[in-house]
Parts: sequence; C-alpha cells; structure tokens
Amino acid sequence: MRKVVWGVLSTARIGIEKVLPEMLASPLIELRAIASRSLPAAEAAAQQLGIPRAYGSYEELLADPEIEAVYNPLPNHLHVPLTLQAAAAGKHVLCEKPIALSAEEAATLRAAAGRVRIEEAFMVRHHPQWQRARELVRAGRIGTPRAVQVAFSYFNDDPANIRNQAAIGGGALYDIGCYAILSGRWLFEAEPRRVVALVDRDPALGTDRSTSALLDFGAGRQLAFTVSTQSCPYQRVQVLGTRGRLEIRIPFNAPRGGAMQIALDEGGALDGSGVQVETLPAAEQYRLEAEAFSRLVRGEPGPGYGLDDALAQARVIDALWRSERSGRWEDIA
Ligand SMILES: NC(=O)c1ccc[n+]([C@@H]2O[C@H](COP(=O)([O-])OP(=O)(O)OC[C@H]3O[C@@H](n4cnc5c(N)ncnc54)[C@H](OP(=O)(O)O)[C@@H]3O)[C@@H](O)[C@H]2O)c1
Repeated sequence: MRKVVWGVLSTARIGIEKVLPEMLASPLIELRAIASRSLPAAEAAAQQLGIPRAYGSYEELLADPEIEAVYNPLPNHLHVPLTLQAAAAGKHVLCEKPIALSAEEAATLRAAAGRVRIEEAFMVRHHPQWQRARELVRAGRIGTPRAVQVAFSYFNDDPANIRNQAAIGGGALYDIGCYAILSGRWLFEAEPRRVVALVDRDPALGTDRSTSALLDFGAGRQLAFTVSTQSCPYQRVQVLGTRGRLEIRIPFNAPRGGAMQIALDEGGALDGSGVQVETLPAAEQYRLEAEAFSRLVRGEPGPGYGLDDALAQARVIDALWRSERSGRWEDIA
C-alpha cells in the first residue's frame, strides 16, 4: 500500500506524547507536517519528533496540497470547525473524541463526510483487548450479558487545562464519559434507548467533575458508569452475564506495547478464586487506529467507524445533559 501522507493540527499533548510516536513507527503512514498557533512551537515539535514540515497556523497546513489526511486533537469546541475546514480542503480527518459538543453540531459534518472520510478517534476499538472482550461475550462465555459497569477517573483541577474549561467543552462526560458510553455500545452491540444522569459540577469551574449514569439498552441490558475528573486515577470495565463475568483491567489507557489482561470468571466463587486471567499480545492502539484509517483512505478493507457511529455517541451525550436538567429519564432522540 502507498503510504498515506498525514498532517496534525496542533501540538496537543496527546499527539506529541502518544499518537504521533506510534504513527511515525508505521510503514503505512508518512507524517509530513505539524501545525500550531505558534510557529516556534510547531518547529520544536517537528524537530523533537522528526516531522519534516512545521506550520505556524492550522490554515497553512490545510492549504498544503500534499497532505491527504489530518489528525485533529484540538480542544473539543474546535473539533467540528477544523474538521469542516480540513474536509473543505479535501483532507480526510481522524478527529479526537468527542467529535462534537452535540449531535446537532456533529450532523453538520454530514455533507463533508460524503466527500472525505471522517472518523471519531476511539483508539480502544482497535486494541486487541477490546476485540477479545467482544469475542468472549459473542461466544457466550459469560452467558447473556446483563450489565456493563464502567469506572473511569483521574484527579485534575488545574483551571488552565482544557478539561476544566466549560466554555470549550471541558468536563468528565465529554472527556471520559464518552468511553463509558462506547463500552456499553461495543459490548452489547446495541444502542441505548433512554438514560438518566446524576451530575456534580465544580462550583468554580462549572464543569461536571463527577457524572454517574444509567443507560437502558433494552431487553434487560444495563450500563452503569461513574466518570470523574476529581477522583483518584482508576479505570475498569466489567461485564456481568447470566453465567459469568469479565473484566478489562486497563480498558482505556493501555500502555504502549504493554501486554493487557482480561479476567474471566465463569465459576462465580465470591472470593475470586475462579478467575482466569488471559494475557493479550502487546499492542499500539493509536498506531492500529491510524493504520486502519489509512487503509480505508486507500480503499483497502479494514475496520472503520463513520459519522453514523459518531452521531450515535453524540445523541447519548445530549440525552445525558437533558437528564441533568430535567432530573428524569430521557429518551435518546
Ligand atoms: N484518544 C485519547 O487517548 C485522548 C487522550 C487525551 C486527549 N484526547 C483528546 O485530544 C484532544 C486534546 O487533548 P490534550 O489533552 O492533548 O490537549 P492539549 O494538550 O491542551 O492540546 C490542545 C491543543 O490545541 C491547541 N489549541 C487551539 N486552541 C486552543 C485553546 N483555545 N485552548 C487550548 N489549546 C488550544 C493548542 O495547540 P497549539 O498551541 O499548538 O495550536 C493545544 O496544544 C481533546 O479533544 C481530548 O479529548 C484524546
């Protein structure tokens, strides 16, 4: 396959520290340019990572005719505007989660998504541990899945961090609640019908610092989650089935090249003595994600998640915000 030529919008930490090093290691990708609002910042990042071109504005990178695909890790409020600009310039876009602040905003990507590929960057779907967990559920190893439980938290109350700025799409639900929603959609292979949320907002920041929710997927299938930006670091996905239980131990931030573990308990001993631990091969989930996207850009087969999938996510987040305001169950619109 001919390499896909990529550019990246901004010197975002997630790019510099995690995504770009993995893309640079791929034989399917040529990472040719990085842009920043500040040219010196772009140049420093380009030099650090060995990226040939640096631009002092996002617009200049989008005007580069050699760039075929763009990775967009901007703050959440800029996901749709810059994805639209990139698409208008004929670039395919892998856009960080959450793709938009609302389903209405996400829907403005529709026309563009007909001309170029636009995907919400949920790298976890490309990690072998997520695929294996789904395979175990499909194979009936825990019986019928009844409940998915997700906890995801970290402590960060720095007002300068994008996660703590309500006006630009900060808060726990947008930042990490989206992974909890995705976990339920992935493991049940269904969409929720209605939701109820309990939201605690930081009085100074205005962001949701803790959000818990129940999602009804119908046919007795329930997702319960708690996400928090001001609790100790923790993450876990657990699936309870009629005959057993499985647990993804580091479901979201699997370390680069780390061998991950899934715990499967088909015995049900309350002291956990029946738990079997399966170790998955080491993987680079950001590289797998960018490679899958590159293959689709070249018309090669592979897993892909389009705008309909991103809209399904955004509709659930919308319903949870409605539930915060109404204090009631809200149907997914
Ligand atoms: N998939 C994952 O594992 C993962 C992990 C972390 C974050 N994310 C997502 O990636 C995105 C970036 O997160 P991050 O933690 O890497 O953020 P970050 O370090 O704060 O980077 C955001 C970048 O956006 C640019 N920017 C443009 N307008 C800005 C503004 N008004 N305020 C702040 N920055 C602005 C800045 O780059 P320049 O100054 O260079 O222009 C900044 O470095 C978010 O959407 C987040 O949800 C995904």
